[in-house]
Amino acid sequence: MRKLLITIDGPAGAGKTTVSKALADRLGYIYVDTGALYRGVAYEARAAGISTDDDQNLEKLCQRLNLKFVNRGAGTLLMSGNTNITDFIRTPEMSMMASAVSARSVVRQALLEVQRKMGEQKSAVFEGRDMGTVVFPDADIKFFLTADLKARASRRYQELANIKPQPLEEVEKDMKRRDENDSSRHIAPLKPAADAVLIDSSHISAEAVIEKMMTHIQQAFDRD
Ligand code: DC
Repeated sequence: MRKLLITIDGPAGAGKTTVSKALADRLGYIYVDTGALYRGVAYEARAAGISTDDDQNLEKLCQRLNLKFVNRGAGTLLMSGNTNITDFIRTPEMSMMASAVSARSVVRQALLEVQRKMGEQKSAVFEGRDMGTVVFPDADIKFFLTADLKARASRRYQELANIKPQPLEEVEKDMKRRDENDSSRHIAPLKPAADAVLIDSSHISAEAVIEKMMTHIQQAFDRD
C-alpha cells in the first residue's frame, strides 16, 4: 500500500488534534502536531526573555533550539533538548505567544525545514495551519477542518478545564483574536489549499469527521 502524506489544517478548536491522532492510529502513521513546535518556540522565547517581535534574537534562538517529539506510552512528548516541555505549552498565554511568534518569518523559515524533515518518510498525518498550502504543497490528501466560533470555543473551554480553567467568554474572545492573527498575517496565513477537502465539524461528532476522512483516504489507496 502506498505511503501517504496527509495534512489537516484549520483554526483552533476545530477538532484537528482528535481526528489527526485517530487517523494516524488507524493507519499506523506518525502524527505531527506542528502547533506544538510554534508553542515550543514561544515557550523558549519567554524563558530567554525574548519578545515576540525581536526577529534577531528569535532567529538565534531557533538556530540553537532542538525541538523533537518523543513517543511515551499513551502520548507524545515535546522535548526541547533534554527537557520535557509538554506540560507548559498549552496555557492560554502560550497560545497567544505561539500565534505571535508564528507571524515572524524567521520562525516560520526555521520550522519549515524541521517539518519537511519530519515528513520525509511520508506515512504521516500533519496537523497545522499551512500544511497543505506551504509546508507540503504536494501532500497526497489535504483536509481543511473548520467549525463555527461557538462550537470551537466550547470545545477549548472543556479542554482548558483540566489545564487552566477560564470563563467561556474569555476563551471565545482569545480564540477570535488568535483566528484573526493567524488568518491575517502576511506569511503562510491560515487558509484552505485550493485542492483541500473542506469539512465543517460544527454539528458532527469527531467519529463522523474521521469516517468522512477515511472515505477520501480509502479512495486514494484504491487509486493505486
Ligand atoms: O494548533 P495550535 O493551536 O497548537 O497552534 C498554536 C499557534 O501556532 C497558532 O495560533 C498558529 C501557529 N501555527 C502556525 O502558524 N502554523 C502551524 N502550522 C501550526 C500552528
